[in-house]
Amino acid sequence: MKQKAKILAIESSCDETAAAVVEDGRKVLSNVISSQIEIHTVYGGVVPEIASRKHLEAIDGVIEKALTDSGCTWEDIDAIAVTQGPGLVGALLVGVSEAKSLAYALHKPLIGVHHIEGHIAANYISDPDWEPPFLCLVISGGHTYLCIVEDYGAYRMLGETRDDAAGEAFDKVARAIGLGYPGGPKLQKAALAGDPEAFHFPRPCLDEPGYDFSFSGLKSAVLNTLNHLKMMGEKVHQADIAASFQAAVTDVLVGKTMQAAQDYGIRRIAMAGGVSANTAIRKAMQEACDVKGYVLSVPAISLCTDNAAMIGSAAYDSYVKGIFAGPALNAEPDLPMRRL
Ligand code: KG4
Ligand code: ZN
Repeated sequence: MKQKAKILAIESSCDETAAAVVEDGRKVLSNVISSQIEIHTVYGGVVPEIASRKHLEAIDGVIEKALTDSGCTWEDIDAIAVTQGPGLVGALLVGVSEAKSLAYALHKPLIGVHHIEGHIAANYISDPDWEPPFLCLVISGGHTYLCIVEDYGAYRMLGETRDDAAGEAFDKVARAIGLGYPGGPKLQKAALAGDPEAFHFPRPCLDEPGYDFSFSGLKSAVLNTLNHLKMMGEKVHQADIAASFQAAVTDVLVGKTMQAAQDYGIRRIAMAGGVSANTAIRKAMQEACDVKGYVLSVPAISLCTDNAAMIGSAAYDSYVKGIFAGPALNAEPDLPMRRL
């Protein structure tokens, strides 16, 4: 992949309106994010209808700023990329319609990008020398996968969650212990003051063969513990619950990843998705990799959660291969990953 290209990318799958200009899939010229966290916090989670409206309000300004920040003019832009799915349909539609209009009006090629493929591509930005093949643990708010990235756009699925995604578990447990939205970062912060061994929560699937995950039982174990403590009139130590839950999730994620690396003889591992911003999980994965002599790639924390730079990076492979979308490109809330 040598061709030079500047791609303007748009991301609007959930609660961040984002645009970026990325050169050659690796060099970020600009990366603008307008977060809706404040408004959704009032409701304790993302309200899809509000998300769509906020995207509509923000998107033009965000794109304009991304172009200005990059030092480019529209003439310098070689293609427009956009998250096509998965995500909230109304939110995705805002980005997709905008991208289609720009591509049509400016006569630029259009590229539809899978959101999770974008998360994986964040690794190519943080480490420009990072290339397939590698084992990747994808841990986002809606998806949890363990896959082998055999090549750009070529994913061999080893396992996925049978119920809740890792981020969903963080969010639900955070809410249950009164931390509110957004759950993951708040739970991580609370856990700092807690004892990870205060409660022994289950490590679902860890001792089973295969690479699937399950987090709903773990969430139920936390809820049962909370109910039990309340019934007994005992004080709920928020920090201890947070730290013990985080320890259980970390053990499962790191354990399954190490098992897969050993079974498949892969020595290069990456993480992707919002939960890979978690410092306890990053540290535990790094330590496990150090013991085995594996190389670990983790995106910079700011590139773990939703952003458009990762979409611009993932789009580069399609650009080089000449895989472009037409005006019929549509938002696909359940878009599947390209699996080998
Ligand atoms: O990848 P992402 O930004 O959006 C999706 O594609 O879903 O992931 C968002 C998820 C949320 O569940 C959020 O709570 C979680 O990532 N998250 C974290 C942390 N930062 C974000 N979970 C644990 N620790 C964090 N520091
Ligand atoms: Zn995401």
